[in-house]
Amino acid sequence: MSDIPQERRVLTAIPGPKSVELQARRTAAVAAGVGSTLPVFAARAGGGIIEDVDGNRLIDFGSGIAVTSVGASAEAVVRRASAQLADFTHTCFMVTPYEGYVEVCERLAELTPGDHAKKSALFNSGAEAVENAVKIARAYTGRTAVVVFDHGYHGRTNLTMALTAKNMPYKQGFGPFAPEVYRVPVAYGYRWPTGAENAGAEASAQAIDEITKQIGAENVAAIIIEPVLGEGGFIEPAKGFLPAIAGFAKEHGIVFVADEIQSGFCRTGQWFACEDEGIVPDLITTAKGIAGGLPLSAVTGRAEIMDAAHSGGLGGTYGGNPVACAGALGAIETMVELDLNGRARRIEEVMKGRLEEMRAKLPNGGVIGDVRGRGAMIAIELVKPGTKDPDAAATAALAKACHAEGLLVLTCGTYGNVLRFLPPLVIGEDLLNEGLDILERAFSTL
Ligand SMILES: Cc1ncc(COP(=O)(O)O)c(C=O)c1O
Repeated sequence: MSDIPQERRVLTAIPGPKSVELQARRTAAVAAGVGSTLPVFAARAGGGIIEDVDGNRLIDFGSGIAVTSVGASAEAVVRRASAQLADFTHTCFMVTPYEGYVEVCERLAELTPGDHAKKSALFNSGAEAVENAVKIARAYTGRTAVVVFDHGYHGRTNLTMALTAKNMPYKQGFGPFAPEVYRVPVAYGYRWPTGAENAGAEASAQAIDEITKQIGAENVAAIIIEPVLGEGGFIEPAKGFLPAIAGFAKEHGIVFVADEIQSGFCRTGQWFACEDEGIVPDLITTAKGIAGGLPLSAVTGRAEIMDAAHSGGLGGTYGGNPVACAGALGAIETMVELDLNGRARRIEEVMKGRLEEMRAKLPNGGVIGDVRGRGAMIAIELVKPGTKDPDAAATAALAKACHAEGLLVLTCGTYGNVLRFLPPLVIGEDLLNEGLDILERAFSTL
């Protein structure tokens, strides 16, 4: 890890003067469509801290959106990627291959659920992995339809915009979208009309009915779901939902794809979130946490499905770049050595304990409607007190109050009313608690 002291330090207003100056240059040079949560420009980052150009040290509850699980400068990632950088930056795996790519695929075969024969293909971004999972599933089944879920998020390319549920900001004005994409209900326990306890059975029955009646199971190539829905609001589908959908897929020869791009690689306290209910997906898409901050993604799955696409049908100039592969091997080494699954489970214990305490202190829970998530993928859903009406304004106000005190938090959710916490799994417990203290104080600013 870089030697940044693991201490919060607020020296200036947030953002500070140097960040403000850079922001002016940015506004002139960078397209407006690329947003930022907090216009604080980073100088270095590591462990649970991001240091900005003004010397402020922010506590990181975002991990660059669930990426730097091992920290943003993990020793093994830096060591392996630097060595690779000095050896060669690129040959293109499709021209002259190299060992790192093969080794990452071997590790993916070991780490992903199921003991069947598996193969992988590597890409750059999460969206690209999801696109390729669809290509592979279509090639294997000879079918075209793809089923996705309410509140799902799968990326910003044309096909993945079609797969993504939320219109604004992801889709507005960017259509037409790819055809043969169908959306069905998900078991969102907190908002399920007949209660969380019925959500698993009822939502899966509804989803299966819609697939059967409106699409025809025999036309469906793939069902794609995030085992914990990320951008949609850290929704854990109610128990029973995922097994029912996976079972239906199996029965009808549909490729079941777990999109673990946000939830994978120790984030939820298991290597992959689908393990929680013993799901063995046919294909699994990974990215984000896989490579300690370097751009890498993968589709991993049953060898016979992965081999359905003809030679030359999959790939891309940079897919499985050697430096990114070296980073991935360093990140995986760190996850094993530091038992980051165990660390994620401890983060859940601390965070949920503190968040439940905060809720208990507010009359009838106040704005905290729900505390949920697993491992270091934890969220609170904010509502108008005494109702379930989403309160996006309170969510934005809380985030702003946290930012001003040097705690980086992110928001998400279909209704923009979820405050999500994704600390690096290597964050110290003192920083974790200090961040939660800041959040607790922020409630009094509402
Ligand atoms: C579940 C899921 N799928 C796909 C993506 C898209 O990944 P990327 O932004 O790397 O294209 C994301 C990104 O947030 C995601 O959370």
